[in-house]
Amino acid sequence: MSMTISPYPNALGAEITGVRLSSSCDEDIIAAIKSALHEHLVLVIRDQNLDPGEQVAFSERFGELVVRVSGEFLHPDYPPVLILSNRIVDGKAEGATDAYAGSHWHSDLTYAEKPSFGSMLHAIEVAEEGGDTAWANMYAAYDALPGDIKNRIDGLNAIHIRDRRRNPRAGISENFDRDVNEYYDIKVPDSVHPMVRRHPITGLKSLYVSPRFTVAIEGVDDAEGQPLLDELFEHQKKPEFIFQHKWRRGDLVFWDNSATIHLAVGGIKPPGVRRLHRTSMAGEVPYG
Ligand code: OGA
Ligand code: MN
Repeated sequence: MSMTISPYPNALGAEITGVRLSSSCDEDIIAAIKSALHEHLVLVIRDQNLDPGEQVAFSERFGELVVRVSGEFLHPDYPPVLILSNRIVDGKAEGATDAYAGSHWHSDLTYAEKPSFGSMLHAIEVAEEGGDTAWANMYAAYDALPGDIKNRIDGLNAIHIRDRRRNPRAGISENFDRDVNEYYDIKVPDSVHPMVRRHPITGLKSLYVSPRFTVAIEGVDDAEGQPLLDELFEHQKKPEFIFQHKWRRGDLVFWDNSATIHLAVGGIKPPGVRRLHRTSMAGEVPYG
């Protein structure tokens, strides 16, 4: 079996076949995956079959794992595994639906001082229709900005928060079926990150804001800052920056959170059930 990497014809993304992932993969496979990740930003690795323990052990080959601050939706035996699922059990979804993860463009955990460097989603069950995930290339989005906007945001920092109650652009959706106040009362300090981030490995600049987590620009009045954020949020989701993935069972998608944003596209057609398992690797403090 030999590993094949086929880039998609989109702004980002590549498909990998011919490899069987496990915690004991050879070091050269891990190195090849890392280098493909830096080049393509989103890797769709087909036909995998990792149980939660194996997914944790495989993910740990790329760094320490982050456990979400809310105890909801975590795998009972493997808390670094976040369960995404729309299956209703006893009147509630058995996992995080897009009301909790993904309903607005974002990069994982940017509300933290050290956001995630990369995440993996493994498809355990997929719906026949709907439930795609989209990624957008933030190197390309930064490069395509007009020069005057680049100059304006280079060197500025933005404020990122977890609490949806304080973010009018990412309100509480109607299928939020937990106690909103309990879910968001957990104290997570706000974070401040450069709006233009330099990738720790490639050294390239990316646009590092998202409507889900970025709520203001540090030191800039809202009268000026909010319209600028609106403009950046419109810009960063232009079709030319996007790759949209239709899940197949067994897919393991590994993406770079420093240089991409992503979105749960939604629209799962009943009675379709989608169950994905997420792991997220810790990153470093972003710098410009
Ligand atoms: C996530 C996420 C998107 C999706 O798990 O971090 O954003 O399509 N998921 O479920
Ligand atoms: Mn996410």
